[in-house]
Amino acid sequence: MDIIRVEGGHHLEGSVAVSGAKNSALKLMAATLLAPGTTTLTNVPNISDVHVMGKVLKRMGAEIEVVDEHTLAIDTSHVDSWEAPYELVAKMRASTAVMGPLLGRFGKAKIAMPGGCNLGARKIDMHILGLQALGVEFDTEHGYIYADASAGLTGTNVTLEFASVGATENLIMASVRATGTTVIDNAAREPEIVDLATMLNEMGAKISGAGTPVVTIEGVEELTPVTHRVVGDRIEAGTFLVAGALMAGPAGVEVTGFNPMHLNMVIRKFEAMGVPFERTEGGLRVRRAERIEPIDIQTLPFPGFPTDMQPQAMTLSALADGNSIITENIFENRFMFASELVRMGADIHIESHHAMIHGVTGFSGAQVSSPDLRGGAALVVAGLIAEGITEVSAVHHIARGYERFVEKLSALGARVEHASVPDPDID
Ligand code: UD1
Repeated sequence: MDIIRVEGGHHLEGSVAVSGAKNSALKLMAATLLAPGTTTLTNVPNISDVHVMGKVLKRMGAEIEVVDEHTLAIDTSHVDSWEAPYELVAKMRASTAVMGPLLGRFGKAKIAMPGGCNLGARKIDMHILGLQALGVEFDTEHGYIYADASAGLTGTNVTLEFASVGATENLIMASVRATGTTVIDNAAREPEIVDLATMLNEMGAKISGAGTPVVTIEGVEELTPVTHRVVGDRIEAGTFLVAGALMAGPAGVEVTGFNPMHLNMVIRKFEAMGVPFERTEGGLRVRRAERIEPIDIQTLPFPGFPTDMQPQAMTLSALADGNSIITENIFENRFMFASELVRMGADIHIESHHAMIHGVTGFSGAQVSSPDLRGGAALVVAGLIAEGITEVSAVHHIARGYERFVEKLSALGARVEHASVPDPDID
């Protein structure tokens, strides 16, 4: 069994560069299907979710050259299959991002129905309703969704019930090739959506309003391949900022490679908690919070506080001088992390989608298990300040979205390592 072992209590210092954003890279990779030929993506994070998306594209007939560790040249000229198979969708739900581009280019897609996962139900009904409005017909059989737009896609107005990131992206990627104009109302505004629209426009699409609640897409006849750099990962950056807020030495920790504007709400909330930040040329420097103030945080679609930073924020608030409340509005199961943090001495009470956090004076190292990607990273961060040794298991979750997490923390001075321990011997 692979674990990450952390010895708490060592100061962090220096500078850490974040990788390209997972949530952008995956959609950009899917979007290469829209432009026959070779699209080159740079600043691609070397993480397991990107490897899964690579497999999805290869199964369809794409050829992928790994030019260097962070550069992929994806040739979609010979794509001749339109299926995202169950074993890959089950591994990574973001595989469903190929539905929009497949419909845009080929007018058909066969996607395994994503089942439940450890973040709750995670339905795709809004993707389907929006695509139906564009003229796609759907059928489900044997656990697969069959989408057919052989009669063509026609631009229309779509109002999303909720500003879903995935639905907004799938609708944009289908409608770039529709006849006429599509308007998506109540669109998600995440920076990764702006990155996707930017690349599609470079390819020849006509998308305006990305990053606002109303996105307008004028369909075009064809898209051509480009070279595009993936935006920096704001969530990875935020995770290192929390590590610095807890354990930075006197010189602080600088985090580079991302746009601090993408973390506006996070920084505002952390400043209210007493975390000192300073802009640097390359990003942000964080210093250790002398005293952590309690806070009230609600997760919301961008520009609200991101659900992907909720466990890291909970780690910080668990050490505050007072009582905090965190309300999770996006994913129903995102508090599983809390019970692991309680094993390290946190005092957290969950009531439906609210967490009441009574600040404690310290964590004690323990054996804990990553419940999911961000929760796993937050447990490693908690281990940095815990007294003694923390052993985090189920670390494959962390590898889905953090490139060289252990190595980056070690370079800052953390005592953290990958280790292998025997599997528990249970009959
Ligand atoms: C993306 C991100 C994820 C992030 C989330 C919210 C990727 C690969 N993942 O996920 O890291 O936490 O945005 O910022 O980019 N919903 C429906 N029906 C739908 C679509 C969504 O009910 O058709 C619900 C979901 O169950 C969830 C909420 O809407 O409760 C938000 O989902 P959405 O914004 O779509 O998130 P993802 O695109 O899955």
